[in-house]
Amino acid sequence: MSRLLQQPLELLEVNAIRSELEADAATQLKDLVILSSVDSTNNWLQAQPGHERPGLAVLAERQTAGRGRRGRHWVSPSGGNIYLSLCMKFESGVGEIGCLPLVVALSASDALARIGMDGHTIKWPNDLLFERRKLGGCLVEVQGDAGGPCFAVMGIGINVCMPAAMHCAKRIDQPWTDVNTHIPGVSRNRLAGCLLNALLLNLAQYAGEGFGPFLQRWKERDELAGKEIELRRGTGSINGTACGISPRGGLMLQSCEGLNEYLAGEVTIKRGFNDGKGIRV
Ligand code: BTN
Repeated sequence: MSRLLQQPLELLEVNAIRSELEADAATQLKDLVILSSVDSTNNWLQAQPGHERPGLAVLAERQTAGRGRRGRHWVSPSGGNIYLSLCMKFESGVGEIGCLPLVVALSASDALARIGMDGHTIKWPNDLLFERRKLGGCLVEVQGDAGGPCFAVMGIGINVCMPAAMHCAKRIDQPWTDVNTHIPGVSRNRLAGCLLNALLLNLAQYAGEGFGPFLQRWKERDELAGKEIELRRGTGSINGTACGISPRGGLMLQSCEGLNEYLAGEVTIKRGFNDGKGIRV
């Protein structure tokens, strides 16, 4: 029997989610929609009329064509996980919000910390991990002019109670875990509310103050710092030691080419932490 059937199904509910919002977050949220099924919550938001989108959030019980980064499929079965998207308008241009994917990941991390999911990490640019297994991910899509304004649709998927026995879970192409394994009986409504709350508050801070205030918080949750990694970009790849992130959210990588900043790419962890005395996994 799947884990999903072993505990009562908690459907998503607008009032329960709203009750987690602090006053400053609640004022930023224009509307919250819950769908029983949708192709992708990011697609759904992008299809709404432009003037209705800023401040609009959508959650779905399942996605039939959930999308991950780099064109991947996001496995999105019914009733157990979180599929959330929020749209916000930024007056600055696309070039000014390059750290947005990292702010979204930090927001998901804040929410996980709030419900007691200690020990999780963020793998640059925006994967959420627990003991190297994928717990969630973020898909940020921005439309607009270089000079602004622009609209950002920020999607977050969190594995909360993934039905491991189901065929779909077997399609996940990397090691994964879910919140319920570590916090049995976790409330999806509470986690969804904490996610929205953290997102709304952090986005307001990012719009006003930039990424500076988030740098230290990233350091505390950085999965990669000190580890031997491979960074794949386009057709090539670079091996080196991850050295944290730059003030503009780039990955700092020490390789045979020196210490360089990379603004995009896909990371694989090769080995554990290199503290100068050898590798610790
Ligand atoms: C990744 O790690 O590849 C990103 C996964 C993002 C999944 C979320 S679920 C809600 C939103 N809707 C989508 O289709 N994708 C994002």
